[in-house]
Amino acid sequence: MSRSFLDASIPDLVKKLHVDEKVSLLAGPNWWNTSAVERLEIPAIRMSDGPNGVRGSSHFLSIPAQCMPCATGLAATFDPDLVREVGEFLAEEAKIKSSVVLLAPTCNIQRNPLGGRSFESFSEDPHLSGTLSAAYVNGLQSKGVSASDHQTFVANDQEIERTAAESVMSDRALREIYLYPFMMAQIHAKPWAYMTSYGRIKGVHCSESRELLQGILRDEWGFDGIIMSDWYGTYGTDQPLNAGLELEMPGPPRWRTLTLMLHTMSCQKLLFTTLDERVTNMLAFIQRQARRNPEIVYGDGKEGTRNTPEMHAFGRRVASESVVLLKNAGGVLPLAGKVKKVALIGPSVHSRVISGGGSAALSPSYVVTPFEGIKAALGDDVNLSFHTGCYAHKYLPTLEDKLTTVDGKPGWSATFYKHDENGNPTEAVVTYVLKDTRLKLNDFSPPGMTPTWTIKVEGNLTVPRSGPFELGLTVAGRAKLWVDGKLTIDNWTHQTPGDFFYGQGTIEEKAVLDLEGGKPVRINVEYTTIPPPDTDSNDERRNAQPALMRGVRLGGCEKIDPDKAVEDAVALAKESDVVIFVGGLTPEWESEGFDRPTLSLPGRQDEVIARLAEANPQTVVCLQVGSAVAMPWVDSVAGILQTWYLGNEVGNAIGDVIAGKVNPAGKLPITLPVKKQDIPAYPHLGSERGKIYYREDVFVGYKHYQAHGVKPMFPFGFGLSYTTFSLSNLDVMMSDGPVAQLSAKVKNEGWTTGSQVVQVYISYPELGIAMPEMQLRGFAKAKEIKPGEVKSVEIKMDKYAMAFWDEREDAWMVMPGKYGVHVGFSSDELLLETEVEVTEKLKWRGLYERTAYMMKRNVFSRPSWMANRSEGADSLQSAFR
Ligand code: BGC
Repeated sequence: MSRSFLDASIPDLVKKLHVDEKVSLLAGPNWWNTSAVERLEIPAIRMSDGPNGVRGSSHFLSIPAQCMPCATGLAATFDPDLVREVGEFLAEEAKIKSSVVLLAPTCNIQRNPLGGRSFESFSEDPHLSGTLSAAYVNGLQSKGVSASDHQTFVANDQEIERTAAESVMSDRALREIYLYPFMMAQIHAKPWAYMTSYGRIKGVHCSESRELLQGILRDEWGFDGIIMSDWYGTYGTDQPLNAGLELEMPGPPRWRTLTLMLHTMSCQKLLFTTLDERVTNMLAFIQRQARRNPEIVYGDGKEGTRNTPEMHAFGRRVASESVVLLKNAGGVLPLAGKVKKVALIGPSVHSRVISGGGSAALSPSYVVTPFEGIKAALGDDVNLSFHTGCYAHKYLPTLEDKLTTVDGKPGWSATFYKHDENGNPTEAVVTYVLKDTRLKLNDFSPPGMTPTWTIKVEGNLTVPRSGPFELGLTVAGRAKLWVDGKLTIDNWTHQTPGDFFYGQGTIEEKAVLDLEGGKPVRINVEYTTIPPPDTDSNDERRNAQPALMRGVRLGGCEKIDPDKAVEDAVALAKESDVVIFVGGLTPEWESEGFDRPTLSLPGRQDEVIARLAEANPQTVVCLQVGSAVAMPWVDSVAGILQTWYLGNEVGNAIGDVIAGKVNPAGKLPITLPVKKQDIPAYPHLGSERGKIYYREDVFVGYKHYQAHGVKPMFPFGFGLSYTTFSLSNLDVMMSDGPVAQLSAKVKNEGWTTGSQVVQVYISYPELGIAMPEMQLRGFAKAKEIKPGEVKSVEIKMDKYAMAFWDEREDAWMVMPGKYGVHVGFSSDELLLETEVEVTEKLKWRGLYERTAYMMKRNVFSRPSWMANRSEGADSLQSAFR
C-alpha cells in the first residue's frame, strides 16, 4: 500500500468512501485492528493491552514482553515523573508489537478493594489517579502511541455483572470522584482516544450515553479524538453512534454490519451526517497515528520482544520504588550485614507472580523470582533456606517449566484440527509449540478452520521428585487429559461451572498420580470448542459475559500434607535469624471477570504467618497483592512490605528493599481496612438486582474513614522509610492565574539516603453541604535526600483544589471562606498547616471556556498568624519503626 493516506484530505476521502467502506471503518475486523480500506489506501492500525505491559495481538501465541508494576504499585511511587517514564517505555514496547494504540491506563477509582480489577486502577483518590493518569498518557503520547484513555469511561469499579449493572450515584460523586481522574488527564494530557466502560450510568450504558460522550467528553471537555467500546461493550447499532462512539470492538462486528446499519439509516434512527461525522473522526485518528508512526503502520506487522540490560534496570527501579514498607519494628529491615540464616517461607517464594489476571496479564520475557532476587541481594554469606509452608493457589500452578515436546524442545505442542459435519476432528491444520499450559483462544484461530474445531496438545512431563503429584484441568469448551495413554481427567462429559475464563469455564477437575522424579510421562490433552451437551443456556452466570470465551488450562504440583507443611515451616523459622514470608494473591485470585469475596488471604497463609511470628518474632511478611488484604497477624510480625504485583523484576525489587540496597519510599495509594465491614462501599459492594448503589457518595477511601472515625489498618498515603524526615518552612504563595504555590522543606534526620512524599490536603469552611474532612490536592516527592540534607518541594494547586460540584447549579463551585492547608507525610501524619482565604465565589463548567478561568490574584490570602505554625515539626515516622 502506498503512503498516499498520510497527505490525504479527510473530507475528500469521506466523499469518496462507499457506504460499506464507511461502515467497515467503524468496527474492528478482528480483536486488535481497525479496518483498512485498500481501494483508497487507508491503512489499518493495531492496538494492544494493557496497563502494565504490552502483550501484543495474541493471548495464544504471546510474544514475551516486559511486565511493569501494576497500577497500584505505580501509584505508590507518588512520582508522576517516573510514571511518565513508564508511559514512554511502554510506547516503545507497543511499537515493538506493531501497535500504535495502548489500551491503557486504567483510571477507574478503587471504590472497593475487592473489585477484581482494583490492581489495574491507580488509587482510591481522584487527584492522585488523575495526576498519574496524565503523566502516563503524556509519556505514552510523547512517543506517538495513543492512550485509550482510559479504561474505562466511567465507573467500571467492579466485575460482577459488569456489562449490565447500573452504577447509581449522585452527580456530585460522578464529577468529584469518578470523572475527576479522566478530567485531570483531559486537562493535563489530552488523550487521543477513550474506551467506554461496560456498565450503565443513569440507566444508560456508557457506550450509549450521549450525556457522557458528547455532552461531557466532547462538548464540555473539548475532546477531539475517537471513542471505542470496551470489548463486546457495544450493545446496539444506532444508540452508540448517536451518542458519539466511533469504534465497535472487537470485530468482526456484531452491530455494525452492513445489513443492520443500512436498516438503521433507512428508518433515520441514524443519519448519514452522523455516520460521516464518526467516519471523519476515525480517519483523522488513523491518519494522525499513521503520520506519527509511518514505519509501524506501513511496516510488516511483526511482533517482537526487547530484552536489554537497560530495560531490566528500569523495571527494577520502578518496581523497587513501588514497594511500601508498612511496618519495621525494631528496625528488622534492612537485613544486609545483620543476619546469617534466613528462612524464605511461603507459597510465592519460587512463583512467578508478576501481575493481576485478565487482560492485564502477559507472557513475560523473563522473571526474577523472589527467591532468586533475595538470594542475589543478600549474597553468598547468608544461608537461605526455603519451605512452602502452605499452598495458596486457586488453580494448580501451570506446568510449562516441567514440559518438553516429544522431540525435546521446551514446552508442548498444540495441533489444530478441523471438524467434520459431526463435530469430529479430521484434518490437522497446523502445529504450534507453546510455552504456557494456559491456552487462551478467544482472540485466535488459525486461518481456514471450521466453525468448531479441536486442539490436541502433547508433551512430556518430568517432575523433580518422586511422590504424589496432583494434576488439574480447567476449560471453557470441553477437554480431557491422558497420562501415558490413560484417561486421567474428563472435563468433557459432565462439567461443573466455575470462575475460569471470566466465569464461562468450569471448576478445576483434579487427579492425583504417583510420579517418579526425573522420569517423563506423556501428557495428552484434547480440547474442543463444542460446548458440553448439558450446558444450561439459562445459566445467568455463564451469560454474564457477552463474548464466548475459549480456552483450556493444565496445572499441577506436588501434593503436600498441609499440616506437616505448616509444622516443617515453623521448625525452620525457629532455627533461623529472620523469616521472610512471601505470599499474598495471584492473577487467579485477583482478576478481571470476578470480584474477590473476602479480604482474607487464600489458603492457610494467615495461620502460617501467625505461627511463624510465634516461632520467630523476627518475621517479615511480603505481600504480593494488587489491593488490600486483611492482616490478622499485623501486631505479631516485625515487618510488612506491601509489594503489589511488580512485573518481571519482582524478585530483584523485593531483594533490593530487604537487603537495603534501596530505601523504600512507596506510599499507600489506598487505605487498607481492618475488615470488610470497614470498606466505605460496604455493604453495597456488588450489583443488587442490576444496580450498584454508591451510597458512600463522595466519601470514598480515606474520606470515609475520617468522616466516620473508623481506624484503618494503614492509612492512605502511609509508608515508612529506613530513615526519618522532618518538615518545615511551609509557605503558600499566590501567582497570576488560578495557581496557589506551596513550598516546604524536607530534612533527612536519619542515617541513610531516602526519599519522602510531601502530601497536601485541603479542608473546607462550612459550605452547607457534606464535605470530606480533607482531600488530597497536591503532592511532591523529595528524592534521594542524604542524611542531614534539606530539600525543598514546590506544589501547585489549581482552582479544583477548593472546588465542589454544585448539583443545583450543575457547575463547579468555589465558595468564599477560609480553607485549611494540611501538609505531611500521610493522611494521618499531617505536620504543618496553614490557611488560605478565598474572597470571591467562583463558578465554571467546562475546561476551556473563558468562565473557567476565573480565579483572580489575591483570591487567596495567607493570614500572618499562620507563619509561626509552619516553622517545623518532626516526622512521626520514628514512632512506627
Ligand atoms: C477489557 C479491556 C481490554 C479488552 C481487550 C476487555 O475484557 O475490559 O480492558 O482492553 O478486554 O483485551
